[in-house]
Amino acid sequence: MARNPFIAGNWKMNMTVPEGTELVSALIAEKDDISPVEVGVCPPFTALHAIGSLLKEKGSAIKLGGQDVFGDGTGAFTGMISIPMLTDCGCEYVILGHSERRGRFGTTPDWLTPSLQALFADNDETVNLKASIVMPSPLKPIICVGETIDERKTGDTDSIVRSQVEAALKGLDKSKLGEVVLAYEPVWAIGTGETCDSAEAQRVCKLIRDTVAGIDSSAAEAMRVQYGGSVKPDNAEELLGQPDIDGALVGGASLKADSFAAIVRAAKKTA
Ligand code: PGA
Repeated sequence: MARNPFIAGNWKMNMTVPEGTELVSALIAEKDDISPVEVGVCPPFTALHAIGSLLKEKGSAIKLGGQDVFGDGTGAFTGMISIPMLTDCGCEYVILGHSERRGRFGTTPDWLTPSLQALFADNDETVNLKASIVMPSPLKPIICVGETIDERKTGDTDSIVRSQVEAALKGLDKSKLGEVVLAYEPVWAIGTGETCDSAEAQRVCKLIRDTVAGIDSSAAEAMRVQYGGSVKPDNAEELLGQPDIDGALVGGASLKADSFAAIVRAAKKTA
């Protein structure tokens, strides 16, 4: 089955409204025909409304995503963001269980004390709860999985990735499972400049697809599996050329229009 590549930019805690507006305006100005590549940006919550309005006003095909979500309703949950708040801004996607939300960092800065680190409290159970709330909503989840360097060194990559995938998808509506995007993001490759080599990234992305096939084979065929972790213009084509890698979740290189656009063009070449 042909799967349309999906390149999503995860801006993390970067970009004020003016900065994000400038970046997205530059992306919109790129007039290349990139079909069938799907492109998305995931700004911080504070910029979602402005960026969503800009994309709508310009009639852009670039999709909007949130970086996390808490619940579907309203309530006394200070600091939390709901699904209607995201859809109201124009979001179509939401990232769930990014390793940084799970408190698993590629590099941990000194100031991130254990008590601050505990604020990043996602785990397999919360990721599954969030996914079960998102699935019946208009949003599609981009669910992140991946091993730390210690887990890789002890030979636990496959069991960790498999168990994260199974836990995240547990009990979800099988008829919509193919719409889920899974992102393989080895934690040691995030923001470190270290990329997983393309053969190994392909192997783990295939493992992810095989794990989904154990739940539902047609969902596994339809599902896009992204690779994320130091994706850059100079390694994108090789990674995206792998048969089970259907796109990229891009952090640092999504913050500059020229590097993000170059990754999108690499996806077009391999589509
Ligand atoms: P990076 O981040 O491209 O800066 O490594 C990727 C991600 O965390 O999604």
